[in-house]
Amino acid sequence: MWWQCFVKGLFFSFFNPQVVNGIEIYSMKIDSKVTSRFARNVITSQAVNRGNVHKEVFFDVELPKTAFITNFSMTIDGVTYPGYIKEKEAAKQEYEKAVSKGQTAGLVKASGRKTEKFTVSVNIAAASKVTFELTYEELLKRQFGKYEMFIKVKPKQLVKDFEIDISIFEPQGITELEAEGTFITNDLQNVIKKTFSDKKGHISFKPTLDQQRTCANCSQSLLDGDFTVKYDVKRTTPDNLQIVNGYFVHFFAPTNLPQLPKNIIFVIDISGSMSGREIEQTREALLKILDDIRDDDFFNFILFGSDVHTWKEKLIKATPENLDEARKFVRGIDTEGMTNLYGGIMKGIEILNAAHEEKFVPKRSASIIIMLTDGQPNVGISNTEDIRTHVKKAIEGKYPLYNLGFGYGVDYGFLEKMALENKGLARRIYPDSDSALQLQGFYDEVSNPMLMDVELHYPENEISGLTKNSFKHFYDGSEIVVAGRFADINQNSLTVDVKGEGANDVLSFTTQQDAEQTAKAFQEQEYIFGDYIERLWAYLTIEQLLEKRTAATGEEKENLTAEVLDLSLKYKFVTPLTSMVVTKPEDYDNQAGIADKTTEEYILTEALNLCITKQTPVICFTVDGDPHFIISVPQKEDAICFNINEKPGDVLSLINDPVTGITVNGELIGDKRANSDAKSQNTYFGKLGIANKYLNLKVTVTSEKITVQNGNEKTPFTWLDSVTLQQEGLTLIINKEKNLVLSMGGGASFVVVLHQVWKKHPLHQDFLGLYTLKSHKLSEQTHGLLGQFFHPIDFTILEIHPGSDPKKPDATMIIKNKELTVTRGWQKDYRKDPKHGIDIPCWFVHNNGAGLIDGVHTDYIVSSLF
Ligand SMILES: *[C@@H]1O[C@H](CO)[C@@H](O)[C@H](O)[C@H]1NC(C)=O
Ligand SMILES: *[C@@H]1O[C@H](CO)[C@@H](O)[C@H](O)[C@H]1NC(C)=O
Ligand SMILES: *[C@@H]1O[C@H](CO)[C@@H](O)[C@H](O)[C@H]1NC(C)=O
Repeated sequence: MWWQCFVKGLFFSFFNPQVVNGIEIYSMKIDSKVTSRFARNVITSQAVNRGNVHKEVFFDVELPKTAFITNFSMTIDGVTYPGYIKEKEAAKQEYEKAVSKGQTAGLVKASGRKTEKFTVSVNIAAASKVTFELTYEELLKRQFGKYEMFIKVKPKQLVKDFEIDISIFEPQGITELEAEGTFITNDLQNVIKKTFSDKKGHISFKPTLDQQRTCANCSQSLLDGDFTVKYDVKRTTPDNLQIVNGYFVHFFAPTNLPQLPKNIIFVIDISGSMSGREIEQTREALLKILDDIRDDDFFNFILFGSDVHTWKEKLIKATPENLDEARKFVRGIDTEGMTNLYGGIMKGIEILNAAHEEKFVPKRSASIIIMLTDGQPNVGISNTEDIRTHVKKAIEGKYPLYNLGFGYGVDYGFLEKMALENKGLARRIYPDSDSALQLQGFYDEVSNPMLMDVELHYPENEISGLTKNSFKHFYDGSEIVVAGRFADINQNSLTVDVKGEGANDVLSFTTQQDAEQTAKAFQEQEYIFGDYIERLWAYLTIEQLLEKRTAATGEEKENLTAEVLDLSLKYKFVTPLTSMVVTKPEDYDNQAGIADKTTEEYILTEALNLCITKQTPVICFTVDGDPHFIISVPQKEDAICFNINEKPGDVLSLINDPVTGITVNGELIGDKRANSDAKSQNTYFGKLGIANKYLNLKVTVTSEKITVQNGNEKTPFTWLDSVTLQQEGLTLIINKEKNLVLSMGGGASFVVVLHQVWKKHPLHQDFLGLYTLKSHKLSEQTHGLLGQFFHPIDFTILEIHPGSDPKKPDATMIIKNKELTVTRGWQKDYRKDPKHGIDIPCWFVHNNGAGLIDGVHTDYIVSSLF
């Protein structure tokens, strides 16, 4: 890598793909420590501004929705700015205050399917370094027999030092450990290092720069996707109780129990808005679900559009014949009318209630209502408060209600409240190609009930702050977690009675544990975060209070809000009621602003002085605008100019030096609308190609982007960048949205000026101008429309006389032993004022420079930019 970046007198290796937009993220580490399902993850990202002006650095992370951020800090040039947890309202005010002062440390939050995205951006000065450190915590949930942790990986550029390091400690012992990434290729598979024995598991993923590339010489990172870790623990007993420092946590997940038969009512929205893709996917999912229904299950379908249709008046046993009939019914489901959600759900409850009253279904069986809707109730009772009241009264806590909200037209808040009030939960089904799979996946979670009415009894007088301890169903592959704290902090043992209704009999047992036993189980643990049970308790309590708060109103809601807020502030969790605020000191931005300005002014004056100062024997050659060429002739303190009128798309040879290998070609563009009269068509340079074939270097400039190609390696910039690039043979300075200065082979320099026109201009579009500096560094053999004038030229003006335009006299010019009729005129020089330009008086040579240029102008049309 022989490219270097010149920043404040320091050379950095620059021409490497790790630098994107002037910013290099040189380190990114994701460090996770899991203790008894409770995970603390620290993401550290370190970046440096390789540019020459201050730049905005983004820290983008996606976290699981179930996680709470607990800490954030940024360190700029060794100074750490910590984040503070604040109540949301207070935080908002503070943030607005900071924004109004220009101290933007923006914190943006956006929601995805499984994740929430946090974006923090900070302006840092040239050559400055920034470290972001974010910590988040979550309780890993057990699903389908495994605890799952997923980490969203998306560094967006190659990172020299990239690492994921996960350590797991489970006092019960680890039985299996898997790690996979959606982006993992065969080659990367061996990069994942995984070990586990007894209570400890470790995963490390540390791809080298080359291993991160999408292909051998590519600069794109293939690290983009989910990195998932799954594991499970040994279960010699149905539960596990841990006690540390006055807090306890109780995990309950019995295995090898027979499944309970289930009674399932599917309440399906078939209103008009479900038509097309949604109803198709619903049919597809229901057909797959029918394949999984067990023969001792009972089921039924209720469809609601404007009216309510039931497949059968009663629950039906899942015999093969009935399942076949059900398949036919499902295939025939079609959409109709409006959304009588109330009628549908009440009918479902009624059928289920009747089945229980008539003892039509087994006593020991789990009843479940799954409702799917994509809209809002608008037939029957449509007031959602009223629906909730009626539904709650009809269900009476007997069966969980699961509400699936399809798409974005649903009143999800209503569905969630109604589900939570009825011991169930709500889920979103995202409209996508996998919607059917999402529906099926949800069914799989609740399709294997093993216990009903699970109660975990703790001695009331010994415990305070107990989390939820009674559960309608326990599903196979999941886990029940209860946490609490002792009323007396010195208490160190606990006895719990556990009871649940199984398929054949009652499961009932007593568990006892003391703090010493827990401590023994944790002996070998080096990284235990001593407060994990307390934090786990706080996490679970906040999660459950927030859930309760969803459906609460009035004073109850206020009380819950106050409780959650207290806990969030105490344990520093970013919850929906709190925010993390980071503020930079005030003078920081000012400094950056000054640095920025100084640099730009310096660059601009350097470029312009060289050309404008008339005392120096420097000749300026310009092509700009229509495209008009200006050849300044310093010894005469005058200039010659001419136009070339060719069609848009043509490429003109501007400079061609066979000795230094430098060529400059320009491609013409026209106005937005083609003019019917081709002769009067305005043309401009829309693309310039500047190359040095000996250095294997190509620079392409358009009004949008600048691409530097060194051999096979391409580095893109845009006009929004401010960049200084330096290498033996090339210096490139981009002055954001203004111009770029390019010098090649230590010789000739060029300035490309960006002309931006009003974006909605009916006719004109952005175009480029080219100015040549230090042209004496090019060889005698240089040619091209501009290049041929790099050799000293002279001319004599004779017989100035009035021309066709009274303001513009004509004259005879003697040049190259020829007599030409020329007109005194002005051409615009846009270097100082890119908008309006400065009028430069010059002698205008007519007919595409005929007689002035060697040969005819069409000789200069070349086949391509390079
Ligand atoms: C938050 O992170 C910063 C920076 O690493 C650290 O100094 C501080 O102690 C952390 N705060 C908490 C509460 O962990
Ligand atoms: C990668 O670049 C090297 C050096 O420029 C070159 O020799 C090699 O052929 C390139 N490989 C591919 C796959 O392009
Ligand atoms: C709310 O909290 C206050 C003060 O602790 C208490 O008196 C009141 O009963 C609570 N209200 C409800 C509805 O829980």
